[in-house]
Amino acid sequence: MIRRQFLARSLGAAVASLLTRGAFAQHAGHSMQGMEGMGSMDDMPGMAGMHHAMPSPQTPPQVSLAADDALPAGAPLPELRTLVNSSGEAGMFRATLIAAPRKHTLLAGRPTTFWQYNGAVTNSAEGPVTGPLIDVREGDTVEIRFVNRLPQPSTIHWHGLPVPPDQDGNPSSMVAPGATHVYRFTLPPGSAGTYWYHPHPHMMSAEQVFRGLAGPIIVRAADDPLAGFPERHLFFSDLKLAADGSIPANDMMDWMNGREGQFVLVNGARRPRIAVTEDERWRLWNACSARYLRFSLGAGQRFVQVGTDGGLLEKPREGLTELLLAPGERAEVIVRAGSAPSQAPLTADVYDRRKMAMPAGSLPPDPARVLADVAFQPQPAGEASDAMRAIPATLRTIVPLSAPVARKSVVFSEAMDMAAMHRSGASVHGMPAGMRFMINGASFDPKRVTLTSRRDAVEEWAIENRTDMDHPFHLHGTQFQVVGRERGGVITPEPLLAWRDTVNVQPGETVRIATVQRMTGDRMFHCHILEHEDLGMMGTLKVI
Ligand code: C2O
Ligand code: CU
Ligand code: CU
Repeated sequence: MIRRQFLARSLGAAVASLLTRGAFAQHAGHSMQGMEGMGSMDDMPGMAGMHHAMPSPQTPPQVSLAADDALPAGAPLPELRTLVNSSGEAGMFRATLIAAPRKHTLLAGRPTTFWQYNGAVTNSAEGPVTGPLIDVREGDTVEIRFVNRLPQPSTIHWHGLPVPPDQDGNPSSMVAPGATHVYRFTLPPGSAGTYWYHPHPHMMSAEQVFRGLAGPIIVRAADDPLAGFPERHLFFSDLKLAADGSIPANDMMDWMNGREGQFVLVNGARRPRIAVTEDERWRLWNACSARYLRFSLGAGQRFVQVGTDGGLLEKPREGLTELLLAPGERAEVIVRAGSAPSQAPLTADVYDRRKMAMPAGSLPPDPARVLADVAFQPQPAGEASDAMRAIPATLRTIVPLSAPVARKSVVFSEAMDMAAMHRSGASVHGMPAGMRFMINGASFDPKRVTLTSRRDAVEEWAIENRTDMDHPFHLHGTQFQVVGRERGGVITPEPLLAWRDTVNVQPGETVRIATVQRMTGDRMFHCHILEHEDLGMMGTLKVI
């Protein structure tokens, strides 16, 4: 069933009315089609008193949000803190990551309690809210002692890395509050790239991430052809902040569309300043729970994409004026300093991901927003550095995966079950019980295996989006190659040979990927809009 009709028919009356009282107030900037003339719920037959039965966590009292400019802007981009390697052994990276509540005062006199990863780090103890950077090399064995000082169980998932399934922070491997767990894995050759880590407990990932738990990982290759470029790290996260300084729970709209706050932070700062004096290699992380980032540098300023999630492309993509990163995705780009001083706004341009409106239709896309202000101040460069900063025509060899020996189908769908939604106390972890996001017709069940694959068997997966909004597909434990996209019978082969672990799937689209798993065990795959993941748009792949 088309979701939009479903909403119009069954969700429209009750929930739309609720939203006018609560969550809607926070989304007042968006016009909601069909809201005009709706009476209160009590005016509707059979609806009287319904709101008293609604589980309270999903309809938090109106939260007044901090103003859009309440956080200071314009400070220099904070450097990421880097996790210190406590091991003296070659090829061994050993450190402790502690997840714990931590106060930061962003609004004067109204401190905010984040949940944050901390550990021994290279720079300031009061660094950005982003978790510390784990900077390691191919071949390294990584041993992270995770100390959970949160009030909830958690896990650490190593997004994109080919780590053994039992070390990958699956929802089935929860670390209890107060407990400690050691993760250990070795980074194989060819794994150089831009990754991240975040919690993965079922039904609590969204909250743990929106309270601040996420951090970057870089895996470096010994023979990196771009090692001559100075690097800049831009870790994008989203923050919804109440006027009293607290981080509010998700409301109905957050659960439905994925949470987007009023702030987009770069390394923990709002709209920082970046001074570019020479050509730079930027690593970009979209660590937002749900926000799509369609980057541009304003006024047609061009840049070169050199990498995706799983490291360098085979060939650089020259002359880009924009680059879309769905939640969970990363990229590497080369930004040229140019020959004369200039300014450019690093912008998230309008991207319509077809967020749902109540009771029907879609919300208009968010307006463009400046994420950072870039000042190009080119310094005269010597010949030596010019040569060093040339981008090779071939960055590395990427061998296309061989012909598939098996095929798999993954279908995204949604449904809203009004009866379940209104059952008193039906909410778990503050989630609206009746809002279902599904894979292959079912919500996630930890006891069920969704798909089974053989180790080392190349497969082609067709990921089909039968909903009316975009969903970013993510598969654990491996990097895959996008083969092509199909929409309305038209097939577009993927022009780019690249390793990815996350790919956006638009409504009505089928994305085909070639993928292979190298280790036996259970792997997760899911929508990387974390609210959708928590609401069940996740499956288990059993590799045998
Ligand atoms: Cu970024 Cu299953 O995760
Ligand atoms: Cu992942
Ligand atoms: Cu989704």
